[in-house]
Amino acid sequence: MRMKYSNLGRTGLQVSNLSLGTMAFGRWIDEEASADILDAALEAGVNVVDTANFYGKGQDEVVKCGTGESEEIIGRALKGRRHSVVLATKVGLPMGQGVNDRGLSRFHIMREAEQSLRRLQTDYIDLYQVHRFDERTPLDETLTALTELVKQGKVRYIGCSNFAAWQMAKSNGISDMLKLEHFVSSQSQYNLLSRELEREILPFCQSENMGLLVYSPMARGMLSGKYTSAGDLPEGSRAALGEELIRQYFTDENFEQVAIYRQLAEEHSVNLSQFSLGWVLNQPGVTSAIIGASKPHHITDAVKVSDWLWPDDLQEQIR
Ligand SMILES: NC(=O)c1ccc[n+]([C@@H]2O[C@H](COP(=O)([O-])OP(=O)(O)OC[C@H]3O[C@@H](n4cnc5c(N)ncnc54)[C@H](OP(=O)(O)O)[C@@H]3O)[C@@H](O)[C@H]2O)c1
Repeated sequence: MRMKYSNLGRTGLQVSNLSLGTMAFGRWIDEEASADILDAALEAGVNVVDTANFYGKGQDEVVKCGTGESEEIIGRALKGRRHSVVLATKVGLPMGQGVNDRGLSRFHIMREAEQSLRRLQTDYIDLYQVHRFDERTPLDETLTALTELVKQGKVRYIGCSNFAAWQMAKSNGISDMLKLEHFVSSQSQYNLLSRELEREILPFCQSENMGLLVYSPMARGMLSGKYTSAGDLPEGSRAALGEELIRQYFTDENFEQVAIYRQLAEEHSVNLSQFSLGWVLNQPGVTSAIIGASKPHHITDAVKVSDWLWPDDLQEQIR
C-alpha cells in the first residue's frame, strides 16, 4: 500500500492522508513507546504529526491544565529529522491556573508559541492551530497575533480546531478585510458514530477550499471493537486507563451499530478499525485522518487502508 498525499486546503503543502495524533504521548504512552510509534509512522510515510501544548499528564488532573509532555517527547524524538515532518501544534486550552493562562489573547498566544517552540526544539511550527473558539477574545486580536508569528518566521500556516462553520466564516471575513493570515485548515471530530460535521463544517471547508483534518476516526477506540459493553473494559485500553471522553460513545445504540459494522467489515475482509478508518478516508472533503495509535501495529493496520477505495455496495448501507 502507498501513502496518499494531497494539498492542505488551498496551500501548496503536501500532507499524508494519515496523520499521527499524539494526545496520549507522555500521558498513557511513555517516552520509549511514543518514539517507537513515531518511528513507525514516519517509516510508513505519515508526514503530519499533530500535538498541542495541552497534551500530557495534565489532561487527567481534576483541574485540567496542560503540562507539555507530548511536545517535549516529540522534540527529542524528531532530532535530526525535524525538516521532513509537518509539525502541527495547538494553543488555547489551559496551561496554568491564571486568568490569562488560556484562550486566544495576544498575551497568551505569543507566550505559548515560544513555549511550544522550546519544547519542540525547533525554530518554526508548520501548522499552528487554535484549539477551540475563545468567546472572550475578539477574533481580530487572535488573527493579528497569529499573522505576526507568521511574519516572524515562527509559524508557517495557521489553522483552527473545533470551530463552528460560522466562526470560520467570521474569521475568514476578518482576515480578508484586515489582510491577515487565513486559517488554512479545520480540525474536527469525525467518525462513523459522530457525523455532526457533515451538516455545516464539511461543506464549509469544501466551499472555502480549507483542509479538513479529522480527529478520533476510530471514536477513541470504540470503533476498534475492543469494547462490548460499558462495564467490560479490556486491560490496557484507554477506557480502562481512565479516559473520560470515550464514555460518550458507550450507548446501547452505538454498541448495536458497532456490531453491524463489525459484520460488514468481516464481509469485506478488513478488521473493524480498518473499516472505520477506510470509511473516513473515503469521505469527500477529508484531507487527513488523525489517528491515535497507541501501538506501532496500529500504524501498520491503518496504512493498509490508506488507499482503500470504499466499495460501491457499501455506500448505500452506511447512509
Ligand atoms: N482538536 C481536538 O480537540 C482533538 C481532540 C481529540 C483528538 N485530537 C487529535 O486526534 C488524535 C487522535 O484522536 P484519538 O486518539 O481519539 O483517535 P482514534 O484513532 O479514534 O482512537 C485511537 C485509539 O483507538 C484504538 N486503536 C487505534 N488503532 C487501532 C487498531 N488498529 N486496532 C485496535 N485499536 C486501535 C487505540 O485504543 P487503545 O489505546 O485503547 O488500544 C487508540 O488509542 C489525538 O492524538 C489528537 O492529536 C484532537
